[in-house]
Amino acid sequence: MRVLEIGTGTGWNAAILASLVGPTGHVTSLEIDPDVAAHARDRLSGSGVRVVPGIEVPDDVVYDAVIATCAVSRVPPAWIEQARPEASIIVPWGSYSGSHASPVAALRKTGPQSAVGPFVCEAFFMRDRTQRVPVGEFPGMGRESETTRVVPFTPEDLVTDDRLVRFLLMLPGVRIGTGVRPFNGDRGRIVYMGAPDSSWAYLWPDGSVHGGGPTPLAERLRETHALLAREGWPGLDEFSLAVDTSGEECRVRTRFGTWEHRV
Ligand SMILES: C[S@@+](CC[C@H](N)C(=O)[O-])C[C@H]1O[C@@H](n2cnc3c(N)ncnc32)[C@H](O)[C@@H]1O
Repeated sequence: MRVLEIGTGTGWNAAILASLVGPTGHVTSLEIDPDVAAHARDRLSGSGVRVVPGIEVPDDVVYDAVIATCAVSRVPPAWIEQARPEASIIVPWGSYSGSHASPVAALRKTGPQSAVGPFVCEAFFMRDRTQRVPVGEFPGMGRESETTRVVPFTPEDLVTDDRLVRFLLMLPGVRIGTGVRPFNGDRGRIVYMGAPDSSWAYLWPDGSVHGGGPTPLAERLRETHALLAREGWPGLDEFSLAVDTSGEECRVRTRFGTWEHRV
């Protein structure tokens, strides 16, 4: 089996891959940082792993499997193009830089330029260095609340069982995460949301949602919660990701909806 890893780092994962593929297999590992690549190459000497500094996928091999150990929003075309038909392409994915999670999708190459597959676990990976963009100001920072409403759930409810990851998949274009803010003379966990038009919303520990701006984020949060509750809180593996090399869209699908993410 021929495996491509993106992000050699310490070389730990590459060493495991080398032992899994055995002497007849082949592991190529790409590392963007030349110093990190040089150290990993020393550590991995004798393992059979080929460590390649940089981001260019060597095109002398057609890979049976690709595994990224850094998170992406756009799957680089070469990761798909250099894989054989039906190859596994494992990617931690988050639709925007700085997303609070990067759940791992186990894609399968379904066409020369496309891949699709389920999310298989919650994760938070370092971002692919070529896809880092400044995350911008924290949503709502220094703004007065324009609207208040109350919803029948709290931030704690949303972090239970990684529920917030599902919101991230179902709310394209919305930055969502958790933070800690002063609350009732103490500190409390909030869920924050932000939209590109500067709309913002905070869900507080008492279920109140304060916010502002033209996008009704509190309502979108409530609707998404209601849909997930109605569907019985489907597991992450009921969500799949479809990507292709042509555009800037990724599609998240479940049996009860499809969400286009512009990435
Ligand atoms: C979480 S670490 C990888 C862990 C590693 N697989 C291990 O077993 O230690 C992510 C690595 O990906 C590298 N990286 C980030 N973006 C990259 C890219 N576009 N191409 C190759 N390497 C990249 C980083 O420099 C970092 O070393």
